[in-house]
Amino acid sequence: MCGIVGYIGKDASSQILLDALRRLEYRGYDSAGIAVISEKRKLQVRKIKGRLSNLELLVQQKPVTGSCGIGHTRWATHGEPSDLNSHPHTDVSQSIAVVHNGIIENHEELRAWLEKHHVDFVSQTDSEVIAHLIDFHYNGDLLLAVRETIKRLDGSYAIAVVCEEQPDLLVVARKDSPLVIGRCDDATLIASDVPPLLSHTKKVQYLNDLEIAVLTKDDVKIYNLDGDEIKRDIETIEWNMEAAEKCGYEHFMLKEICEQPKALGDTLRHKLDKQGNLVFPQDIETMIKGAKHLLITGCGTAYHAAMVASYVIEQVASVPVEVVIASELRYKTHIRKEDEICILISQSGETADTIATLRMLKSLGIPTLAITNVVGCTLSREADKVMYTQAGPEIAVASTKAFTTQLLSLFTIAALLAKAEQSALLDALKNLPGQAQLLLDRLEDIQRFAANQFNKTKVFFMGRLVDYAISLESALKLKEISYTHSEAFAAGELKHGPIALVDTSTLVVALCTQPALYTKMDSNIKEVKARGATALVITFEEVHTFDHTADMIFRIPKTHPLFSPILSVIVSQLYAYYCSVQKGNDPDKPRNLAKSVTVE
Ligand code: AGP
Repeated sequence: MCGIVGYIGKDASSQILLDALRRLEYRGYDSAGIAVISEKRKLQVRKIKGRLSNLELLVQQKPVTGSCGIGHTRWATHGEPSDLNSHPHTDVSQSIAVVHNGIIENHEELRAWLEKHHVDFVSQTDSEVIAHLIDFHYNGDLLLAVRETIKRLDGSYAIAVVCEEQPDLLVVARKDSPLVIGRCDDATLIASDVPPLLSHTKKVQYLNDLEIAVLTKDDVKIYNLDGDEIKRDIETIEWNMEAAEKCGYEHFMLKEICEQPKALGDTLRHKLDKQGNLVFPQDIETMIKGAKHLLITGCGTAYHAAMVASYVIEQVASVPVEVVIASELRYKTHIRKEDEICILISQSGETADTIATLRMLKSLGIPTLAITNVVGCTLSREADKVMYTQAGPEIAVASTKAFTTQLLSLFTIAALLAKAEQSALLDALKNLPGQAQLLLDRLEDIQRFAANQFNKTKVFFMGRLVDYAISLESALKLKEISYTHSEAFAAGELKHGPIALVDTSTLVVALCTQPALYTKMDSNIKEVKARGATALVITFEEVHTFDHTADMIFRIPKTHPLFSPILSVIVSQLYAYYCSVQKGNDPDKPRNLAKSVTVE
């Protein structure tokens, strides 16, 4: 969940590292730090609790020099956010520095062992053991010392290491945490994710698990744990810098919400031929069409996409779909079905629980298809097949365009499997990007509504079928960034318990996009209104069932009722965003959360 960066080149590294950390701040923002080796081979460490701006100030006051360094932005797991627990961590003589993203599960055992060897620890972190172990194994060869160290680590890590004695080297390694190497003509960089690299290069190399790379300013050598050199292709990133910048928007989240028409259009285009027919790579089409059972999984928002897909695929294709949260699926007994395939959904492709689930399913021999947004991510490399969403980089912690493009990808799978009406479904899909734009053209309406309602202490979302799945996603979005207590209910379940919570302080948002269930939903709205709640209804244009029940109605463009989630969720995303801003929160960096959950 932390972000790590590194630079070795001909230029001064401190500003490059700080700029790179700025682009990774979404991964953690409890503390930040850098370590740079000076021209006189002196390791200089600057680290401090709090946001990156604190570190920038510290570096201004106490500058560092040198063209080889590493940096870190932290999301605390072991040890509270503090100056001492911040990375980089050093060995006792302060000549070796390490930044780490991940969790060292056997850190207590290693700490006890190192203490017996007279090492005094200064922090409460699991990561500090890495610096001391490298020092223990160091005998003039940093690569060897890192290799011996990682053989002793259990858990997950992406690490970058610098050493005073070898100022022309940067050594990195990874297992179950992301790490990308950027190749320039006169410099080499590393980062936990692509955005920090984009202002320097689009040429990248990915490290696999249990690989170590030795970086100099003009070369990269990759080794396995046995010390054998591994050849790795250089790949080209298709994203541009603009995609990773705010471009005049106040927050990344608003930019990403507003980018949805383009992201949806780009994702759909990748699934259509020149005549506008649905076209899948042959191997993926064979895999999907050959399945008699679908298992779909993911965490958080990605799980909600899976839930929507189950309703849609079962209705249009009559294929049974089982949906399980990845953090549950990895531990439960899964009974393999006949001709079963699993679709794993993850924006980042690095979520620890989703990757562990993938490995568990592969061990059961179940074919796997990943839907992800990040080219080269762990999920894409380990799954049997991969479908990419074309959302561009999603920086804000709260997932928006990644979610709607996941939905669109899943809807194309539903259309591919559809028993009837395939061309009507396809026409509806083709209209969605434009309809999303029409909705976004009216974002001030939602901004006004949020300005009146943002201080509600309880917000409940309710709906039936796909509207229930979107209720869950809407409640998650609102709690994530506005810290409002929000919950979601299947509308029919209300009277089985949750209605006890409803009073005059409650806002109930009713998602009503399933024509066959309008009157049922209208009754539910009447029930909550009778208990004093305020009711907002989200429904299609030209629907008047709720005119006399709702306090306010927000109308979305008319689409196939199964595809309404792509439009209705945009309303909830905007509502959550504006509530967050009204409350003075930073929607891009909500408290306690990080973008990429690479720990369990
Ligand atoms: C979404 O707003 C959340 N930040 C979170 O639930 C997220 O969807 C979840 O952590 C899964 O992430 P992934 O898609 O990168 O696997």
